[in-house]
Amino acid sequence: MSEPVFVAFATQKGGAGKSTLTALTASYLYYLEGVDVLVIDCDDRQHSQKDYRENDLAVTGENPYLKRLCQNFYKKFEKKAYEIILSNPAEAAKVAVDRIEEGANPDVVFFDITGTVNDLEIVKLLSVMDYLFVPITPDTADMKSSIRFASHVVNSMITTGKSKIKDIYLVWNRVPSKAKTRLCDIIDGYLDELGLHSLNTVLSNSSRFFKDGATIGRTGIFRSTMLPPDRRLLKGSNLPELVSEIRQIIKV
Ligand SMILES: Nc1ncnc2c1ncn2[C@@H]1O[C@H](COP(=O)(O)OP(=O)(O)OP(=O)(O)O)[C@@H](O)[C@H]1O
Ligand SMILES: [Mg+2]
Repeated sequence: MSEPVFVAFATQKGGAGKSTLTALTASYLYYLEGVDVLVIDCDDRQHSQKDYRENDLAVTGENPYLKRLCQNFYKKFEKKAYEIILSNPAEAAKVAVDRIEEGANPDVVFFDITGTVNDLEIVKLLSVMDYLFVPITPDTADMKSSIRFASHVVNSMITTGKSKIKDIYLVWNRVPSKAKTRLCDIIDGYLDELGLHSLNTVLSNSSRFFKDGATIGRTGIFRSTMLPPDRRLLKGSNLPELVSEIRQIIKV
């Protein structure tokens, strides 16, 4: 049995897309690609993954259309929804290891982490990740913050050998197009000078990223912890490309 890979979407910048990308990537891998995942929700200020799961249970329980969709999906899928464990930054890594010792067998463990590098417990948790993906948006303040975060990780954690981190990539999110804009290219050039790199895949600013169902209506779901994204919403989302690029990096 190979060791699971520890992965986090992390940045100190609030609202850059950490929790959204965690849920989307975990669900895509688990429900569409047969990769086993475990999600540790260690953002004890808001527990977004737990909130997502509660919403998913509510909409698939109350909306007759989504209920049927869910029943049909699980009849074929023959596994339960992936597990989300609530924790906090201090205990998250141990919680994951304990769960694996108890018999869970994930290929990837995702940690949804609060954004800050000023907290010692978060720094300790980041240091036991295998790979970090840092969402960066074209907003000037967001960009600065994500780049500062990634540089800090490289300079004080990776190059000093004080962590398990094998690599760190920035991920362009909420970009006004589906490909890198001129601004992205300019910033990528600057990242290069800092010894940083971004993924080729870009996620656009799109309302599909918060489509998570409703208790009424034939709504398409994109972000769900219980179902794969709706095929129509997947088209043009670049999510398959993102997951494929991430799989090549983390080697699962
Ligand atoms: N590509 C996107 N297009 C449109 N909206 C997006 C996109 N990515 C994320 N969002 C939205 O941005 C908001 C913040 O995203 P999210 O909660 O994932 O960020 P976060 O980094 O986890 O924030 P926090 O630091 O508070 O944990 C959410 O409302 C989410 O739906
Ligand atoms: Mg979050």
